[in-house]
Amino acid sequence: AREQTLVAVKPDGVQRRLVGQIIQRFEQRGFKLVGLKMLQVSEELLSEHYCQLRTKPFYPGLLRYMTSGPVVVMVWEGHNVVQMSRTMVGHTNPTEAQSGTIRGDFSIHISRNVVHASDSLEGAQREIQLWFQAKDLLDWDCCD
Ligand code: CMP
Repeated sequence: AREQTLVAVKPDGVQRRLVGQIIQRFEQRGFKLVGLKMLQVSEELLSEHYCQLRTKPFYPGLLRYMTSGPVVVMVWEGHNVVQMSRTMVGHTNPTEAQSGTIRGDFSIHISRNVVHASDSLEGAQREIQLWFQAKDLLDWDCCD
């Protein structure tokens, strides 16, 4: 199915100059970029984004991590993009992530795992609405 998903380069990914390489992987795979912005995230937005994690012991550290610098957030579109971007990103815990995945190639610790990708179609729809206004998602075409 033609889908959209939310991918975010977390503050460690921006600080380590990995934004270009991460975008390149999605472009190379054939997905279409339809939204992109860089922002310093508020705790308010994060508490919505991570609403299922608010009670976890690592949540305060997660907030500190995610507000430690700007993030680059993107919407990618394409066939099965939700599941395929999870595969490209790799396991949440970099210890388990395969080489060839973004986390498997660029990270060693779960609390600095470089990138986020929505975990389901419903999650993607929820997160896209949370991070983007509809007018900022562009419907463009060339050859797909
Ligand atoms: P992500 O899957 O993008 O969204 C939830 C985030 O919470 C996850 O990436 C990690 O950054 C973080 N996280 C999940 N589990 C842990 C944990 N046990 N310790 C620290 N951070 C975690």
